[in-house]
Amino acid sequence: MSGKNPTRRVLVTGAGGQLGTAIVQAFAASWDTIGLAHRELEIADARAVQRAVARHAPDCIVNCAAYTDVDGAEREPARALEINAFAVLALARAARAGGALLVHFSTDFVFDGLADTPYTEADRPNPRSAYAASKLMGEWFAEEAEPAYVLRVESLFGGPAVLHTARRSSLDRIVDHLAEGKPTRIFHDRTVSPSYAVDVASAVRTLVDRRAAPGLYHCVNTGAATWYDVALYVQGRLGAAAPLERVSTDEVRLPAARPKFSALSNAKIVAAGAVLPTWQDAVDRYLSARSSAARLSGFGVN
Ligand SMILES: NC(=O)c1ccc[n+]([C@@H]2O[C@H](COP(=O)([O-])OP(=O)(O)OC[C@H]3O[C@@H](n4cnc5c(N)ncnc54)[C@H](OP(=O)(O)O)[C@@H]3O)[C@@H](O)[C@H]2O)c1
Repeated sequence: MSGKNPTRRVLVTGAGGQLGTAIVQAFAASWDTIGLAHRELEIADARAVQRAVARHAPDCIVNCAAYTDVDGAEREPARALEINAFAVLALARAARAGGALLVHFSTDFVFDGLADTPYTEADRPNPRSAYAASKLMGEWFAEEAEPAYVLRVESLFGGPAVLHTARRSSLDRIVDHLAEGKPTRIFHDRTVSPSYAVDVASAVRTLVDRRAAPGLYHCVNTGAATWYDVALYVQGRLGAAAPLERVSTDEVRLPAARPKFSALSNAKIVAAGAVLPTWQDAVDRYLSARSSAARLSGFGVN
């Protein structure tokens, strides 16, 4: 054996999504990176999953595919379970059979939001919606792989895909409204830890490259704020004058319940070596990236 590290191969499912594009970008520099978008791999098809894993023989599988329509899952809970839980079981079994590490993503929505200090990995989940229950089951099934990282992320923004497509996160909708001078209605009673997809992807690389202990991690930017405070921050950074209107979650009747308090503690993943700057720092970098992308395509954000 030479002393060189052989090139390692990563297979990314859901590679066309917000986080998937960021993960592909984060690994591409030094891993043999195979990104499969939905049209290239349907993860609910267990045989197709087995074939893809056998064909590409990855050292690591990063599953970014998910049923992410939180309200839609109330109407079609079986589809949410099929993709967010049973497809994860198929991926975990294929990973185990092929000797691959599995990285899977879950959500702050597994908590009921009744806490008043940031949730840690030791806190007990209590999902309040079909989406949240399907994601919690996915966490359990992911553990079938050996080893597996299950990373809870939340309020994602800024995957490279969103710079160039119409797909927009909550943060993007706030930026769009402010930039267009439109009034924006914002929850003042939902506390979140907004997370930059680019930082999440970099944290995944760190865990995998350092072979951190397998298990469950909260993978979010540091800090927390209400959506209203996040919007105020963005308004200040853009120098926008458009008004922000405070609304409460009780005033807006959405099909799926949202946890009111979703701050997650990232202390465990930071102790494992991941760098997760404050959400304000992340928003600043994302606004710069958005502005540069807009200039390149002939549109401005402000
Ligand atoms: N976005 C957030 O704020 C947030 C918060 C908490 C947790 N998460 C979790 O983070 C992960 C990534 O989310 P994201 O924001 O990147 O979501 P996203 O942008 O909606 O990406 C999900 C990707 O999965 C693909 N997909 C859906 N069903 C599939 C299937 N059956 N087989 C293969 N691919 C499929 C979608 O393709 P099509 O669009 O073509 O169907 C899409 O490209 C998910 O596990 C999600 O639950 C996200």
